[in-house]
Amino acid sequence: MPVPIAFLQVVDSGGGSRAPMASLFATKPLATLTEEANEQGAHTLKRTLGPINLITLGVGAVIGAGIFVLTGQAAALHAGPAVALSFVLAGVTCAFAGLCYAEFASIIPIAGSAYTYGYATLGELVAWIIGWDLVLEYAFGAATVASGWSGYFVSLLAQMHIDLPPQLTATFGSSLYFYDHQWIPVASLPKAAHTAGLPHVTGSFNLVAFAVLLLVTAVLVVGIQESANFNSAIVVVKVAIVGLFIVLGSAYLFHHPGLAQANWHPFIPPAQGPGRYGFNGIAAGAASVFFAYIGFDAVSTAAQEARNPQRDMPLGLLGSLLLCTLLYILVSLVLTGLVNYTKLDVAAPVALGIDATGVRWGGFVVKLGAVLGLGSVMLVMLLGQSRVFYSMSRDGLLWRWASAIHPRFRTPWISNIVVGTIVAFLPAMLPIERLAELVNIGTLLAFTIVCAGVWILRRRHPELKRPFKTPLVPLTPILGMLSALYLMFKLPEITWVVLFVWLAIGLVIYFSYGVKHSKVRAASLVGLASTPSDRIG
Ligand code: ALA
Repeated sequence: MPVPIAFLQVVDSGGGSRAPMASLFATKPLATLTEEANEQGAHTLKRTLGPINLITLGVGAVIGAGIFVLTGQAAALHAGPAVALSFVLAGVTCAFAGLCYAEFASIIPIAGSAYTYGYATLGELVAWIIGWDLVLEYAFGAATVASGWSGYFVSLLAQMHIDLPPQLTATFGSSLYFYDHQWIPVASLPKAAHTAGLPHVTGSFNLVAFAVLLLVTAVLVVGIQESANFNSAIVVVKVAIVGLFIVLGSAYLFHHPGLAQANWHPFIPPAQGPGRYGFNGIAAGAASVFFAYIGFDAVSTAAQEARNPQRDMPLGLLGSLLLCTLLYILVSLVLTGLVNYTKLDVAAPVALGIDATGVRWGGFVVKLGAVLGLGSVMLVMLLGQSRVFYSMSRDGLLWRWASAIHPRFRTPWISNIVVGTIVAFLPAMLPIERLAELVNIGTLLAFTIVCAGVWILRRRHPELKRPFKTPLVPLTPILGMLSALYLMFKLPEITWVVLFVWLAIGLVIYFSYGVKHSKVRAASLVGLASTPSDRIG
């Protein structure tokens, strides 16, 4: 995003020299980052996470609303059975970015993730833009998942004959119809259902999504180890449920090969317009199911809490990505084999798939797994968000309370509470599709900048010790940038508009607070930090 010239002039006005403007692009010295990574004491984060914790942290963030909700929609509306190829396309994009994240996380094992990498390579202004952009990924991501979670939770309660007031389970103004013993959003009604004559209410506030985000926030305040243990337990349940679906579904298809043959044919349905089936449909499906992969990069935000970040960061990032890609391809193949893709545009497609196998308890177990599983996604997303704010605040770019550590819990508790409370209002008031699109565009932008950053750092500091090296640089970062941009252009225009508005708000905060309090900028003004003039390349 271009920097408004007026801002530069305001910042530059104190003396007319070029230094103030140049310091907007001051990079944070790697020596300072390493020092920060090695800091110890009561004001720092606790180093307790091992490789398994990190992989489960990644899987905990990744398997969620994407696979449990969006797969069905993407198959029905965009790709048909070839949604498996959409997962491959989105997975490849993530793999390029994942390789770049892994190199950075091994060099700069600091809590801030892409924000910190940007600071070390592209300068403060770009770092700010990434940090602010990551709010779209983590905070809006948690909000999106809370929205999906509330759908599964309400449906699970309904199956147990517990009914909540429907007005408090949906966003303001959304229409719900009473169909098949439960309140269903109008978009999820089967095509054949006629709304006329069905009982109808209008949503006022999704209290369920609001409450669950406050609950997750409370868990995060209590502590990272407790959160990681809670997360590991849930991840086991979640992977088991996904595995159960794959095993039961493929066993059923094995005994009913005719069903799979009929449902998988044609594997790529003929194109019916832009983004609907055909090759374009696979790409549009990929831009949508990309959401299912989001979160593996959250592993990098826990770098300061890892016991051995140099070795374990790449393991956590790539291990969780690989595991999830395999599961997604299998789930999408089994799902489209069990249920014809035209019928998959429902709120709980995986539960529908398991119902098709005739296993009676299957739907209930899948819903329960989704409720627990989506819980861990919210946990990791909000964890990532507070850690990014923690890093930004420590650099002086955000208010100091954002990095205040609780003396007993050793967590950034104020940041957790403030962010968690604000985020809780989002799914209570905004629809899930809009939220998900924003998350996708924000994350893809972060991926693009991280890929660029790896390439730039290789040229400027080839001498750096890189415990993990991204293979084939610059080809991998270039392919990472191109594939991320390609998916961004497959998202609706309105998403781009909101992205620019969001970044503009961020720049206002940066120029009214960050520039005045930035530690790196202050240092660069007295010649202590590196500025563009001393960069390599
Ligand atoms: N990948 C996460 C999900 O699908 C965000 O819920």
